[in-house]
Amino acid sequence: MRLEYTRDELLTSHAYEEPLIAGDVLCHGGFIGSGYVSPRTLHRLPAIGAWQDRLRREGLPLLNLPTEYVPPHYPSYEQAKYLLQEGITDPITRSLTIISIVEGFGARIRDLPLPDLHATFVEDVGGTAIAHLGGGLVEAHARDEAGHRREGGHKQMWEAARDLGLSKPELPGDILLRMMMGRRRPERRREFPELPAVTENLVAFLTGVMIIEIVAEDVFEWAKALLGDPEVCRQNRAAAAMVAHIQQDEKAHVEYLRTALSEMRARTFVGADGTTHVPGATVVDRLFEVGLRGIVSTRPREDRERLREEIHAAIEDRAEASRIASRFEELDAGWTFPKGEDEKLDLLLETAAAPR
Ligand SMILES: [Fe+2]
Ligand SMILES: [Fe+2]
Repeated sequence: MRLEYTRDELLTSHAYEEPLIAGDVLCHGGFIGSGYVSPRTLHRLPAIGAWQDRLRREGLPLLNLPTEYVPPHYPSYEQAKYLLQEGITDPITRSLTIISIVEGFGARIRDLPLPDLHATFVEDVGGTAIAHLGGGLVEAHARDEAGHRREGGHKQMWEAARDLGLSKPELPGDILLRMMMGRRRPERRREFPELPAVTENLVAFLTGVMIIEIVAEDVFEWAKALLGDPEVCRQNRAAAAMVAHIQQDEKAHVEYLRTALSEMRARTFVGADGTTHVPGATVVDRLFEVGLRGIVSTRPREDRERLREEIHAAIEDRAEASRIASRFEELDAGWTFPKGEDEKLDLLLETAAAPR
């Protein structure tokens, strides 16, 4: 199994028989036979598979996020469908548009400062995902999210899915403004001051992105169910298929991130003074836990409150507002993070025994 790849290889796509067109925008990826094939995966997926195989051979675990920690999308499919049935489209349009904008922000991952990764660890990093982060993996990720040159990416694909499902809805004019006015997240506190800031930031950033990518799984299932529902969406098949293509592309993101972080867990970080050593598992597990608490516990609670207010404001304009509002609330299954503030999170590892 080959463990070294060039940047060009990690950015190379398959030879497609047909391109993917979203609305009237040429997008990345394409079709071979009847199947959609994700962009830049000709070598990238086999490479990730080879690095994961190496972890397996070495008996090392792969970092994972138990699904019990993943908050369900709000509003739920049932609630969102009910709103559409009542002709209240704006909150759903807003939600899908925000997803597309956030996907576009994914391009910023290429600005992530990378330390000298060979000097970051006591052990060698040759033949790992770690060593290829700056050699194509991060760039491929950025291109997938925001598009590249003349090809659209997830941003454009989400816009197309929204427009197919909701028949080109009118966009609320204040989407960007409200996003910009949204609360600022507090600065992350340093957990390992003995490490160079660039090193700790890298691990915190990669764990954060990995958690967000896994949490997004639920958004995809929600969007496929809703936009694929012929009772509330017009071009439901095409809309759901577009979401499925994006979902398929995300697999490469989750897999390279968990591979690189698992490799880091198995190594030893070198401190800023060049002599202090910190075990990789200590660093990765701690930053993973801190990130997880914020992303799947604090943040969804705040988002849910804000969205709930926005939806009720949209309902208020309607005749029979109180009937609609109470029906909407009846459909809320609710969710709380399954662990208390001071409870230890379960070991977030899976033995890398069988390929997924
Ligand atoms: Fe994406
Ligand atoms: Fe992604």
